[in-house]
Amino acid sequence: MTTTPRLSHAGTSAAGAHFEDLERLRLLNPMYDAVIDQIDGRMIRIGDQWLADFASCNYLGFDLDPEIMDAVEPMLREWGTHPSWSRLLGNPRPYIDIEERLTELLGAPDTLVLPTISHIHSTVIPVLAGQGTVLMDSQAHKTIYDGCSIARGRGATLLRFEANDPDALEAQLRKADPSLPRVVCMDGVNSMTGNTPDLPAFAQLCRDYGALLYVDDAHGFGVIGERPDEENPYGLRGNSIVRHFDETYDNLVLVGGFSKAYSSLMAFLALPTHLKNLIKVAAPPYLYSGPSPTASLATVLAGLTVNDTRGDVLRADLYRKTKVVLDTVEKLGMHTPNTSGLPIIELPLAEAEDIDAVGEFLFSRGIYVTLAAYPLVPRDQVGFRIQVTASNTDEEIDELCEVLTDLHHKFEMRWAE
Ligand SMILES: Cc1ncc(COP(=O)(O)O)c(C=O)c1O
Repeated sequence: MTTTPRLSHAGTSAAGAHFEDLERLRLLNPMYDAVIDQIDGRMIRIGDQWLADFASCNYLGFDLDPEIMDAVEPMLREWGTHPSWSRLLGNPRPYIDIEERLTELLGAPDTLVLPTISHIHSTVIPVLAGQGTVLMDSQAHKTIYDGCSIARGRGATLLRFEANDPDALEAQLRKADPSLPRVVCMDGVNSMTGNTPDLPAFAQLCRDYGALLYVDDAHGFGVIGERPDEENPYGLRGNSIVRHFDETYDNLVLVGGFSKAYSSLMAFLALPTHLKNLIKVAAPPYLYSGPSPTASLATVLAGLTVNDTRGDVLRADLYRKTKVVLDTVEKLGMHTPNTSGLPIIELPLAEAEDIDAVGEFLFSRGIYVTLAAYPLVPRDQVGFRIQVTASNTDEEIDELCEVLTDLHHKFEMRWAE
């Protein structure tokens, strides 16, 4: 017998109604708000059910890497569990080591690390924009949107432009006051489509107009890098989207994080030293926030070492595994917006209402994915997202492909044209 879910506060107001689908899934679907009881490699146990995990962002498998795990305890012994000064008050030496290594890896003028990208967007975008104009890509990540909204609240003008359309951006740039700062905010590798924007076109446009391009490459850092070619389509070194496109950091601030490919909790800005110094005194996370814990410092430093020694092998493996899934999706005639070959594969449903049943089907077959429900995505994009990691086994990938084949007989997907 199915019972109608009793929606808590979510169903009782206009704002709550907006989240009703999500709240229903949270209450009823095993794929939301789950308690993970155990992990074994990339397998997870929820209650009695073991599932292959395709929902994490641990793209390089660093969360499971013994060399990285072994780096934690010695650093805890040296520095204690948490450097509880705000960064302005005191920086344990590993912070400086991380920034120096990151600056070299990215080929950037300088870098500044802070706890999370969300912290960075909400505090740095308003500082950069001042009383000027923020121009936001219409598909930018919610955390960018929040940062832009705060900037607007502090007196900036907020303009949007159609995603991945440099002409649309140019039309908006013409409206912005050139005597004040103009900051163009967008994603690098998009967290839903897995695709990259035309970075060279946007960077050139920003330089032509004297605007600053602010790019969030949370999903690209560690995965894409310099000198991509046919043999290595992701490129080398995982040094993110600017190097992937052989671009420069002129008029460009890159934001990235270690909480995805590097399986740690830390984020960074790549920027000129004069902006770094401004942010040190003007952005609250540097002044006030509890910094990343020592275990994060240790896993970031060890992750940078593993990236140097084994990163390109892991990326090649990630590409190979992702290709198996994308080839299956293509063979089944399913639509995915992914045209890049990167390990984020969204599969939209023909009928948004099928999301509950699709979630239950995948769960019962031992496949764990991200359900992309409304309002996380617009109604016409409701579906699910698969994220492949280098530490998914070939057997898990084969199992996923088998389950997708069965799913495509059972449910109406959006089909490829
Ligand atoms: C594009 C993008 N930016 C930022 C974030 C948030 O990153 P953090 O956990 O460092 O705040 C995410 C995570 O979902 C993301 O996908």
